[in-house]
Amino acid sequence: MSYNFNTVTDRHGTNCIKTDLAVVRGKPADVLSLWVADMDFPTAPAILEALHNRVNHGIFGYSCLDDEFFAALKNWMQTEHDFSPDRRDLVTTPGVVFGISCAIKACTKEGDAIIIQTPVYYPFKNMIELNNRKLVTSSLYERDGKYFIDFEDFEKKIIDNNVKLFILCSPHNPVSRVWTREELQKLNEICLRHNVVVFSDEIHNDFVYEPNKHTVFSNLSPEAAENSIVSMSVSKTFNLAGLQFSTNFIKNPVLRNKFKIEKDKTGYDEPSLMGLTAALAAYKNGKPWLLDLHRHLQDNITFLRSFLAENLPKVRLIEPEGTFLLWLDFSALGLSDSEIDDIIVNKAKVWLDRGTMFGPEGEFYQRINVATPRPVLEDALNRISEAFKYV
Ligand SMILES: Cc1ncc(COP(=O)(O)O)c(C=O)c1O
Repeated sequence: MSYNFNTVTDRHGTNCIKTDLAVVRGKPADVLSLWVADMDFPTAPAILEALHNRVNHGIFGYSCLDDEFFAALKNWMQTEHDFSPDRRDLVTTPGVVFGISCAIKACTKEGDAIIIQTPVYYPFKNMIELNNRKLVTSSLYERDGKYFIDFEDFEKKIIDNNVKLFILCSPHNPVSRVWTREELQKLNEICLRHNVVVFSDEIHNDFVYEPNKHTVFSNLSPEAAENSIVSMSVSKTFNLAGLQFSTNFIKNPVLRNKFKIEKDKTGYDEPSLMGLTAALAAYKNGKPWLLDLHRHLQDNITFLRSFLAENLPKVRLIEPEGTFLLWLDFSALGLSDSEIDDIIVNKAKVWLDRGTMFGPEGEFYQRINVATPRPVLEDALNRISEAFKYV
């Protein structure tokens, strides 16, 4: 590997929510944080260099996209995802969640129903409820360590609630499924049948493990492209969340216009200059770093798998098809969900994301972020194994 992902960088005192919000959020001050989905590594050197150059220029005025940016983005999308967006389809937002909020307002009115597949990334629910829409959930079900979609339940919920919008998580956080083309096609058919617009959150699309393959939702068919908003971002891929820049692709001009109006209403206009600078460098020169990062993540996953087998055999890993967020099942320990969480937070002093945050289906589960140097992961797993030893 050319890049080193095992150097530990102290993030305390850097306005980092992962470390600096521990006490505010009721965790011990010396807790080890493997919760929120950012990475404990500096971004790719090519991106750092581009940012340094921009800093040296010294002027941080209003910014705009240019031909070079779009060419680099298109090349990345084509090479990585077999996806060829038109320039006019692109609408930038300061984040994927911001885009979700715009989509909710563009596609629904207060009281309208929106469906999500739980357990799922918790801001989906928050955005629906904060915008006074009706939350409808269709639970994923688990068989032999893998999660699946209950298509019958999904369609019935849509019909019963007159659902207008579906927020899809693809690849899925936290159950780390990479949905197959066939699964996505079935969802697409159901949504088209009942006039449900699809917001496809594909922020984890650059973390897909062989032999799985990510399918861009709008690549399913021309009808899918007309009926969807596809949202992607280099923020997860290259650890740039704090730079607030993401991309939404909306083929349908009516839908795009409605989305843009909702974005305009917020008063947000030009893209973050540093976000844009970083994204351009990522698309142009980030790939070698990303390949090494994939190797590191897979090594961490292998390490975690054997650590559990040896030291915590009752804790089950849901085998990840993608993402750097692993879903761990603690139910075989015979403890309550609160007891499990209390032991992890207060005895082991490790901060993971408690499964119930993602929906009631997450009871007895915890989500661990393995995008961290090996010594940190090892420390966290040792702490957890020690804490459960005499339980
Ligand atoms: C599925 C999913 N969507 C969106 C986000 C956050 O996106 P942003 O920071 O661009 O709003 C995350 C971060 O964890 C995520 O997992």
